[in-house]
Amino acid sequence: MKKLKIIGGRPLFGEIDISGSKNAALPIIASSILSSGNLILSNVPKLHDVSTMIKLLKTMGASFIDHGDHCLKIEAHSLNNYIASYDLVKTMRASILVLGPLLAKYGEARVSLPGGCAIGARPVNLHINGLRKMGAEINIKEGYIDAKANRLRGATISLETITVTGTANLMMAATLAKGKTLLKNVAIEPEIINLGECLQSMGANIEGLGTRIISIEGVDSLRGHSHEIIPDRIEAATYLIGACVTKGSLKLNKLRIDHLDSVIDLLKKAGAQISFQKNQIDVSLNGDIQPINFSTNPYPGVPTDVQAQFMVLNALADGDSEIKETIFENRLMHVLELQRMGADINLDKNTAYIKGVRKLNAAPVMATDLRASAALVLAGLTAKGETIIDRIYHIDRGYEEIDRKLSQLGAQVLRLDS
Ligand code: EPZ
Repeated sequence: MKKLKIIGGRPLFGEIDISGSKNAALPIIASSILSSGNLILSNVPKLHDVSTMIKLLKTMGASFIDHGDHCLKIEAHSLNNYIASYDLVKTMRASILVLGPLLAKYGEARVSLPGGCAIGARPVNLHINGLRKMGAEINIKEGYIDAKANRLRGATISLETITVTGTANLMMAATLAKGKTLLKNVAIEPEIINLGECLQSMGANIEGLGTRIISIEGVDSLRGHSHEIIPDRIEAATYLIGACVTKGSLKLNKLRIDHLDSVIDLLKKAGAQISFQKNQIDVSLNGDIQPINFSTNPYPGVPTDVQAQFMVLNALADGDSEIKETIFENRLMHVLELQRMGADINLDKNTAYIKGVRKLNAAPVMATDLRASAALVLAGLTAKGETIIDRIYHIDRGYEEIDRKLSQLGAQVLRLDS
């Protein structure tokens, strides 16, 4: 199991580029299944999850040409296998994103149920119910979703819970359905808009992107096109918080400031000095960290994917704070590891009550999920001495070359093969 050794206690200084968004790249790569041509993507992040999605589509007959410099050409217009097997799906839940496109393009799909993960049960009932409303015949047996449809038909679907990949799956499925689909209470995350714009460039007839109701008039086929993946707002937020917890000063390039409103607002309340130009942010924090209270919410609220990172900021704040996790039922496991590093945090159901301490102590810790791992990295960067983070495969799923980028910012970070 690979580990990360961090010798902490030094501020982060310098400049890095933000990579493409994992949560935009995954559905957009899956959308290539819908195309009758090739899809050329730019700003594709080099991440383990992206490699897994590529591997999954290759098992179905797709081919990929890596043009270098984060550009990828996808030929997925004539697949010969419509199965997403458990051995791949168990390593990446987002594999469920092939279900809608396979059903829409080929009328059949056999996709392993993703199962839960560390942060929660992660059901996919909303994906399945929506596809059934579009005429799919779906049976669940032996841990697989077996789906068939002569041709999906347009439907009006009201989602009782805002679901990001559920919105992505149903929007993709509706692009080739017969007739009009109305999706209500959809996710409006930037990644969904990036996907919708990619589908529009392929010829999909989608209206209402960015609002809670989107209307999709099905077409007979979608053409190939080229599309740029948006910057990863969660990676950007992680480094912004890293500058603050280490009392350093960073310049982040190639990001979308308009995707970070709720994060920037919280950082300013915490005492950060932030300035920005077109797609750059300068951030630093001198003096004491002010405690910040917040709940996680669907976009444009504070993302659940930055909750763990902000907890490190509050753990070192000059005062008490509360963080409430409202999206996932078990996304506070990083608290246990932060407590081992000296954080003063008490949990009551899905709310963390944090009393700021002057410093965190280096310790051996274990990553449990992607964003919890990022929080432990931030904590290790602030703690004098040696922090060893185990199971860092979680990190490589969602952060491109995190050790190279941190080393570029003056951190002492070493990847260990245990
Ligand atoms: C996406 O997961 C992201 N993953 C997650 O990022 C992110 O945390 C999450 O959205 C919330 O923003 C990708 O985009 C690949 P949901 P997703 O469906 O789509 C419930 C990361 O760290 N729900 O929006 O799986 C669900 O249990 C990852 O990058 C149902 O009940 O999340 C949760 O409580 C982690 N039934 C809530 O909705 C369903 O059918 C939101 O989940 C679907 C979801």
